[in-house]
Amino acid sequence: MSLVDINSKVGEPWVELPDGHELESWGKEERITWNQQGRQAEKYRFFRQIFDFITDNSISGAYHEYGCHRVRTFRMALTEARRHGLSEMDFFAFDSFQGLPDSTSSPDHAVWKQGALSTSEADFKRLIGEHGIFADRVRTIPGFYADSLSEDLQKRFVEEEQPIALACIDCDLYESAVPVFRFIEPMLQEGSVLYLDDLFAGYRGSPVRGVARAFSEFRARSRFKFVRHVNIGWWGRSYIAYKDDPSVPVDLD
Ligand SMILES: C[S@@+](CC[C@H](N)C(=O)[O-])C[C@H]1O[C@@H](n2cnc3c(N)ncnc32)[C@H](O)[C@@H]1O
Repeated sequence: MSLVDINSKVGEPWVELPDGHELESWGKEERITWNQQGRQAEKYRFFRQIFDFITDNSISGAYHEYGCHRVRTFRMALTEARRHGLSEMDFFAFDSFQGLPDSTSSPDHAVWKQGALSTSEADFKRLIGEHGIFADRVRTIPGFYADSLSEDLQKRFVEEEQPIALACIDCDLYESAVPVFRFIEPMLQEGSVLYLDDLFAGYRGSPVRGVARAFSEFRARSRFKFVRHVNIGWWGRSYIAYKDDPSVPVDLD
């Protein structure tokens, strides 16, 4: 049973709950498996919904992912793009392919150390190939964002590539998210979706730290407004870019 399968029952406590006997040998491995099943199921639920959203709203463009690691979310995007017949979509994978940088923002997370969450570019490409969907449309941009997301690359993307339909920002740290938001700004269009995976992760849920802070700072200076859209578990949210109309009061956060 995973987090997504909550079964109701007749009588107290009205839902099926494992008892002490069933959890007798429950330990760290079981906890990790349990949480991963629940988290990846929530993310996949999101990708299924958001590809329906972008197709239904005729938002054409590219998929960008900032933080690719084990290719879980990237495979979800490819699968749903295939399901929705988006054969013109380009897919860009931005990652150091060496794991996290040395952090300067003091996250409260046991795993987020320098070099953690590392998947090599070769392994990333192998997993994409094995998945077997639009592999020839996937391009990697290796490097730490502070260097790789240069003004020259930004200019090239603006001039030569599709605008962003969906960007998955899954790079954990404040200092990683800051250059990402700066980089994507000129590639946004009305209807671009930003999926912020770590809005409440790694910094005790504080909105003045982490990815939440980077997003708030970006929002304050962007030429677009962002309306809150789908919640993804306890950790993430998506937002839709829209053009402001000062004559219309908007109250949807
Ligand atoms: C949580 S993992 C991403 C998980 C991935 N979306 C998946 O579903 O398997 C975070 C990723 O962000 C990358 N990353 C974090 N900060 C980065 C930076 N400043 N520059 C480049 N890559 C970075 C790491 O290398 C790692 O692959």
